[in-house]
Amino acid sequence: MAPTSYTKFHTNLQPISSSLLKAKTTSLTIIASTSNESPHLNPQQSSAAGKMKRLVLSPEGRTKFNALPDRDFYAYPRLVKHVDDGFISTLTNLYRQRLRPEMHILDLMSSWVSHLPDEVNYTRVVGHGLNAQELAKNPRLDYFVVKDLNEDQRFEFESCCFDAVLCTVSIQYLQQPEQVFAEVFRILKPGGLFIVSFSNRLFYEKAISAWREGTAYSRVQFVVQYFQCVEGFTEPEVVRRLPSEDDNKGSDSPVGWIMRLFGLMAGSDPFYAVIAYRNFKPVYD
Ligand SMILES: C[S@@+](CC[C@H](N)C(=O)[O-])C[C@H]1O[C@@H](n2cnc3c(N)ncnc32)[C@H](O)[C@@H]1O
Repeated sequence: MAPTSYTKFHTNLQPISSSLLKAKTTSLTIIASTSNESPHLNPQQSSAAGKMKRLVLSPEGRTKFNALPDRDFYAYPRLVKHVDDGFISTLTNLYRQRLRPEMHILDLMSSWVSHLPDEVNYTRVVGHGLNAQELAKNPRLDYFVVKDLNEDQRFEFESCCFDAVLCTVSIQYLQQPEQVFAEVFRILKPGGLFIVSFSNRLFYEKAISAWREGTAYSRVQFVVQYFQCVEGFTEPEVVRRLPSEDDNKGSDSPVGWIMRLFGLMAGSDPFYAVIAYRNFKPVYD
């Protein structure tokens, strides 16, 4: 297993243990379960939950144009925004609806910005990514972890230690997404959720071929299937927000058209998110 490096800003360096994360509990009521596993069972003792049932991608679908190590590609910090303000405000609103202040959150494949709502203080936010300088600049992170998920899909986090895992505009870079989703299942608490959001932008040379060659529809279907191939996730829910005419106001003027032509002004970024819960979707009091 490749080593994982941990960095924590405010106290000593150490991996997060689930005992640390048990400080606050959430009041919840279970309304539905899509698996036979009771949320009160110790998930370590439950049988098939988290098991990968099948592979979604073919070997060819996992290939990238740039086959050099991802760490090299992300070696220098990119302090840019990867999507436009419309995408970010849709995502932040989704987080406002789905996340709660007492949560322990992992921001997978993160960078220097957070899309979490500013006004909410979460119990703990852990970041993961490939560039330590980017992650160190992210003001929302209590800890961060640097790890190449294409080399090794196992985290050193204990099982059931996060209430929510987020992955923003990065899923297209995973070459072993099935294993990563199984790992996310393992580290989520029962009732915890995984929110995967994406648009149509990408580092072309680093995106897997299945994604590069896909359409908006097939990309959503890939993410849905990544969830479905792991036993115990609830049926994935798809959230879409396609650009409206208002979003593009001004960009169809001659100046807007010329700026778009030269890449100086983008059209609005479409928003897609796929969400599923570990075992059951909680309803909060
Ligand atoms: C387009 S950026 C998105 C960053 C951030 N989620 C955001 O919303 O701004 C893609 C991120 O994926 C991460 N990434 C790419 N390949 C990776 C890999 N093999 N393992 C882990 N992280 C990776 C990089 O660290 C990079 O920050």
